[in-house]
Order: sequence, then C-alpha cells, then structure tokens
Amino acid sequence: IRTQVGIVGGGPAGLMLSHLLAKSGIENIVVEKRDHETIKNTHRAGILEAGSVRMLTDSDVNGRVLTHGMEHEGIDLRFNGVSHRLNFTELVGATVTLYPQNEVFVDLAAARARDGGDVRYSVSDTEILDLTTDTPKIRFTGADGQAFEIHCEILVGADGSQGICKWAIPAEHRTDNFIEYPFAWFGILTEAPKSSDELIYANSPHGFALISQRSDTVQRMYFQADPDEDASKWSEEQIWDELQKRVDGPDGFQLKRGPIFEQMILKFRSYVCEPMRYGNLFLAGDAGHTVPPTGAKGLNLALADVKVLFEAIDSYYATKSKDLLDGYSEKALRRVWKAQNFSYWMTNMLHTRKDANPFEVKRALGELDTVAGSRYGQQYLAESYTGWPHS
Ligand code: DHB
Repeated sequence: IRTQVGIVGGGPAGLMLSHLLAKSGIENIVVEKRDHETIKNTHRAGILEAGSVRMLTDSDVNGRVLTHGMEHEGIDLRFNGVSHRLNFTELVGATVTLYPQNEVFVDLAAARARDGGDVRYSVSDTEILDLTTDTPKIRFTGADGQAFEIHCEILVGADGSQGICKWAIPAEHRTDNFIEYPFAWFGILTEAPKSSDELIYANSPHGFALISQRSDTVQRMYFQADPDEDASKWSEEQIWDELQKRVDGPDGFQLKRGPIFEQMILKFRSYVCEPMRYGNLFLAGDAGHTVPPTGAKGLNLALADVKVLFEAIDSYYATKSKDLLDGYSEKALRRVWKAQNFSYWMTNMLHTRKDANPFEVKRALGELDTVAGSRYGQQYLAESYTGWPHS
C-alpha cells in the first residue's frame, strides 16, 4: 500500500493528525493495535485547554465538546484544610473544559469514519523500517491476519508511552531524559453526585488528593498512593475514608459518597525523547514524552505537537520545502519542556514523599501559600494550567 503519511497509533494524537491531514488533501493511513472498544473504555485525563477545544471545533470534528464538555473557570487549591479558589477567567482571561479523553477519541474516530479515513484497528506485529530513506515503511498484520506493508513519505509515531516508534531511533541518535517519582495515583470512578463544581487539588498531611468530575452522576477522584499498592484490596469504605482525610478541614467539607465501579493504580514518570525526530520519523504525543498527571498536560501537549507537526507536513506538501519539518522537534520541545516543568512543579508541590521530614513538608506549604497568596503566583499557575498560546 502507498500513502503520503503513515501514522502508528490511533489515539487522540494519531487521529487528530489524520483528520487535519485529510482536510488538507494529504493521504494518510493510521494503524492501531487496540480495538475501538478498548480505547473507548480506557479512562484517562479529563481537562482540555482552550487551545485543545479550539482544535476540535475549528477543524470540524463535531461540536460535542461544546455541548457535552463542562467549562471550568477555575480550580481550588486546598492545603492546611483551607480552599483557595483560583479564578482563571479573572486572572488570565482563559478557561479549561472538562471533557474526558475517551470522548475526544470517540469524536475523532467518528469523524475519521464519517470522512472515509483509513484507520486500521486491532493490528499486530507492527514494525517500522527504512526511517532515513524517502520511503519509510510500516509492516503489520491486519485484524484479518493478512500481512501488509505501507510505503509512505513521512512516518509519524503517535503510539503512546508504551509504543515501538521511539525505540526504532538508534540509541546513539536519541537522548532519553527521565525521572521517576516515589508515588502513584489511586484512581476511582464513582456513581455519586458532584462533591464540587470544579476540581480540587489538595495537599494534606496524608498526601495528595484530586477531586474531579465526569458528569452529574459520575465522579472521578484520585489520591496519592504507593506505586506497589494493590488497588483491589481496598474496600469502598477504606477508599472514601482515605479521600475524606485528605480534604478534611475546618470548613467541614464532606465528599458525597457513592458506589465505586472502577479502582486502579496509575503509575507515572516524567520522560522526554530528544530529538522527536529521526530521518523521516516524527514522534508526537506520549510517544515522545510523558508527564506526571498533576495539571492534566498529557493530552493537551499531544494535541499541541500535532498542531505543529500538521503545519510542518502541510507546508512540505504545499511548497516542497522541508524547513518546517526540520524545525518540528525544536519547536515542539519548547512547549514540552514548559509542560514538563509545570507538571513536575505541581506534582512536587502537592504530593508528600513518605520519607519527607517536617522541613520539607512545611517548605511545600510555604510554596503553596506563596502561590495562593499572590496574584502573580496565581497568574503563573493559571497561565500554565490553561495553556500557553499555540503559535
Ligand atoms: C483529571 C486528571 C488530571 O490529571 C488532572 O490534573 C485533572 C483532572 C481527570 O481525570 O479528571
């Protein structure tokens, strides 16, 4: 099979790129190892920057993010048992939208199907080869067991943090930058009314907690846990008590409890592959970098990569000049490192290491007090959280 752009990975990054390229008349094929149902049912983050919302609406995906997403004008930073509201609209004139990543996937997959896109789910044995030639290739076995080889001109690795693409860059042409954290998140989905209209990011003596939402009847919450914790061992009551301890305060704030229908440990790390390009292979989204979840930058960063990469590929086919393609990695990495810094900062400020001594615990509270107590501090957080402008 021949095409212009071959895309490995049919998550939000791969599908968004495929959609934008198709709109511009550039042929492309997406291969994805999971099936549609599995991706649809994988719960990930939930917050979209305004720039991400705009990418979905301006490119004619569909308007569901506007009708089903919930616009949030701020967040609560809660520490020492006291909530401090950051009003993003007032601070930086921007908002974010609560719209789960699985919905973004469903919308993009539906738009590709509607527009006749070539997206192959449930493929196996995917390999990429000839990356430094003018015809890089993707080899894979289709859902029906047939072997295929796609000859393309540009190959995009959008296959996530566990994908194969970045490992195809020879070690001597790649720098892996990463750090690990001594904690993970215990995440739940519960059938309960909202405990809060907006997100609460809580630092407590018992560790971090995040109160998020999915709808009027389904809520998403997380609390800091040991990476080796066995989530299945926790009873509903234990989970609720643990969450409640972390938001307790003199205001008497109480979480609204309900049946928990999903509970899992989410491990994370910070990682950046540099550069995000090798020959005619370009990495986008989690294939090139992962952030810890605090601050919800992962999906937004993936979509920002896609915007830069789409413009570079589009310019290449319009002008035959590779200038923007040559600049892709550097341009994308500037935003990546800002988001890495923000995610690292939020994570360390809000979590408590198990072996932290009282100095470290109180220093973090001093930092939170500095941020929450200053308009400039609040603006710094608000600007990063709502997302730097797409250039
Ligand atoms: C959610 C996840 C995040 O990592 C975050 O910072 C905010 C919200 C969520 O799943 O709702």
